[in-house]
Order: sequence, then C-alpha cells, then structure tokens
Amino acid sequence: MADLSLFDLTGKNALVTGGAVGIGRGSAVALARAGADVAIADVNADAGEKTAEEIRSMRRQSLLVACDVTRRHQVQAMVRDVVEQFGRLDIAVNNAGIAILGADEEICQEDWDKVIAVNLTGTFLCAQAEARQMIRQTPVEGKIINIGSMSATIANCNASYDASKAGVVHMTKTLAAEWGRYNINVNCISPSYVLTPMHASTPMAVRQRIRELTPLGHVERPEDLHGAVIFLASAASDYVTGNDLMVDGGHTLNAWLTPLGRSVPPRVSPEEEIVQLKHDMDVLGFPYDAVGINPDVHPEIADAFKAAFGLKE
Ligand SMILES: NC(=O)c1ccc[n+]([C@@H]2O[C@H](COP(=O)([O-])OP(=O)(O)OC[C@H]3O[C@@H](n4cnc5c(N)ncnc54)[C@H](O)[C@@H]3O)[C@@H](O)[C@H]2O)c1
Repeated sequence: MADLSLFDLTGKNALVTGGAVGIGRGSAVALARAGADVAIADVNADAGEKTAEEIRSMRRQSLLVACDVTRRHQVQAMVRDVVEQFGRLDIAVNNAGIAILGADEEICQEDWDKVIAVNLTGTFLCAQAEARQMIRQTPVEGKIINIGSMSATIANCNASYDASKAGVVHMTKTLAAEWGRYNINVNCISPSYVLTPMHASTPMAVRQRIRELTPLGHVERPEDLHGAVIFLASAASDYVTGNDLMVDGGHTLNAWLTPLGRSVPPRVSPEEEIVQLKHDMDVLGFPYDAVGINPDVHPEIADAFKAAFGLKE
C-alpha cells in the first residue's frame, strides 16, 4: 500500500504570492485541501480577500496580505505578518507574475523593467525573505516553489517574459544548491498555456490549436498543477531540490510536425477547462461569454497568439 501520509500537509503553514486568482489561487486551494493553512499575498487585495475567505470556508486558517512583490519592505512585512498569525512558515509558492507583450523591436524599457521586476526580482525577494524565516525557525527547514514557465525553455512569448522565466528556473537551481544546508528545498514548476485571467482573451480557435499541439489534448487548467504543488510542498519530495517540473501536457515535446491524432477523448473537455477561469472572472468582476472569453482582458495576448499560430477568428 502506498503511504499517502507523505502528501499530508496537516499542520503546515503556507504562503502563496499572486494567490488571488489563476495559478496562485489554484495552488492555495490545493494546499488547503491537503491540510495546510494558507496565506494569500497579492497586489489585488479585494480579490485576494475573497480567496482567503474561500480557504477559511474549507476550515483552514487564512489571511490576506496586501503586497507588491517588487517592494522589498512589503515582502519582508508579508513574511512577518504570516509568521505572526501562523507561528512559522513551512511552504511558500512564489507565483506572482506578469507578461507585457509587444514586438521586441518596439518594446520600451519601462515595460521590460516591469516584467523583470515582478517575475525575476520579485521572486528572488520573496524567496530570500522566506528562506531567512525558514532558517530562523526550529526545526530549520522549508519548501520553496517558484512558478516558472515553459517559456524558460521554449521561445513562445517575448524577450522580457521568456528571459525572466529562464532566470527564475536557473535562480531556483542556485538557491537550491545554497539552501540545501538548511533543509530548504527550492524547486520550480513550469506550466504551459494555462486558462487563467492572463489568458481570458485567448480565442477559441487558438485554444483548439493548443489542444491539437498538446499530446494530452486539452488546454491546461490551474487544477492540472495541483498534484505538482502538493508533491513539491510535501514530504514526498524531501530529496528533490533544484528541479524544474514541467507540467505541460507534453506541449514542449515539440511533436508538431505530425498532427497529434487522438485515440480516446482527452480527460478534460473544453467545458471543464474553464471552470476555474469562470470563477476567477467572477472574483475579478469581469464579464465573459459562454466559453469563458473576455476580449478586453489582455487583448494583446490574444493578438500575439493569433499572429503566432497564424489564425484569424
Ligand atoms: N497562465 C499561463 O499560461 C501561465 C503559463 C506559465 C506560467 N505562468 C506563470 O504563473 C504565474 C501566475 O500566472 P496566472 O496565469 O495565474 O496570472 P494571473 O494574471 O491570472 O494572476 C496573477 C496574480 O498575481 C497578482 N500579481 C501581479 N503582480 C503582482 C505583484 N507585483 N505583487 C503581488 N501580486 C501580483 C495578480 O494580482 C493576480 O492575482 C505567473 O508567474 C505566470 O508568469 C502562467
């Protein structure tokens, strides 16, 4: 019999940055379901409070910390607030991230700086503040999970985003090498295209193309990351550190030249793909149509997709 207690997070205290919606909210729910108390940190305090309330309705402790991860003092205060309420910090998911698209020959330095500040510097500032706390507490140990992206490995977005994520993946390895001596595991999870508010404008034709280019046959949902988050947060991964766990349905296997025919329907239908997306859009107060599309949230992402995939709606 498998020892499932390896995955049990009862009594553990977790923090998720960018936890209001999307992958962050999904990670927070996964950790709470596995037994952890979970703090939510986000720049969007209203949406973050709704997710904190959702965690409390699962009979777990939660708190919302309003925090911009690019601000070192706010990040330090975030960890202090969490420890004040929970007593210690066992698990941190550094997820807050943004994309500002645009052709790289046109992009202004301000936009480049913003993306690097949130995705790379913000992730470092959080990891540093979390590790300092984990080193201070008894027993000294912890699990840090950075959210990277397949964009660290393939060139599917633009230079600022792809470079920031490649930085996150490599920084994860360096921190893992340095902090192993404190029993702190540092790992990364790299998703593919995930149906979150970031992708709320992705047209149906593009979603269909992504399904066709993905061996497991459906567009990724935040729920598809739950297992990876629990694994890397729990004792099941105690001897795993410095890894980049690709959770992409096989998308980056690059099996693109031959059409990926299916023998059975994918595990997840197009309707099931958008369950959390619809929840997130409700939390943010954005309208969407029956297939979860709001053309006004990041329309530039939709345009970039259409150009990249050679598709017109
Ligand atoms: N959606 C995807 O396809 C995809 C794919 C691979 C990786 N990722 C990565 O996953 C992470 C989450 O993405 P998502 O799709 O859930 O995005 P999202 O835009 O749906 O949600 C991001 C959350 O982070 C918060 N946030 C943004 N800037 C912040 C800051 N400076 N400080 C604190 N909070 C901040 C936002 O308020 C929001 O709640 C990001 O790091 C992103 O790069 C996303």
